[in-house]
Amino acid sequence: MKVVIANDHGGFELKRHLLSYFKEKGIEVVNLGTDSNASVDYPIYGEKLAREVLKGGYDFGIAICGTGIGISIAANKFQGIRAALIYDENTAMLAKEHNNANVIALGGRTLTNKRAEELIEAYMNSKFEARHQHRLDLLGKLGEKT
Ligand code: RB5
Repeated sequence: MKVVIANDHGGFELKRHLLSYFKEKGIEVVNLGTDSNASVDYPIYGEKLAREVLKGGYDFGIAICGTGIGISIAANKFQGIRAALIYDENTAMLAKEHNNANVIALGGRTLTNKRAEELIEAYMNSKFEARHQHRLDLLGKLGEKT
């Protein structure tokens, strides 16, 4: 499994924790985020993450800012990205089962490290349900209209 992470300053501490978490689990992780608490702009990191996920070769991407909101909005500007803000087990599971989200967004200031791990596990342990594919096709067509 291979994962890519990008974050702004609001996601730095959680990202740092997740790098060790993935290392312990033997999951390869690429870090595109900022590595300090100095203020940066989340749209830049949402774009970096989206472009990298779209290159392929990753199981999924993780976007982290203070709330997960801004960076997910940025990533979702890119055709082919389905970034889902997850904040409990249900949204983590459904982001995969219904939306086949290829990016999960987490709030570095809204989740504890442990909670973030639990949500990532809930997402990773879920499977996309093919009955939702036509909705993903419709989402793809929306991108063609812009
Ligand atoms: C940065 O202070 C903060 O606005 C950002 O991390 C994020 O929460 C935006 O949605």
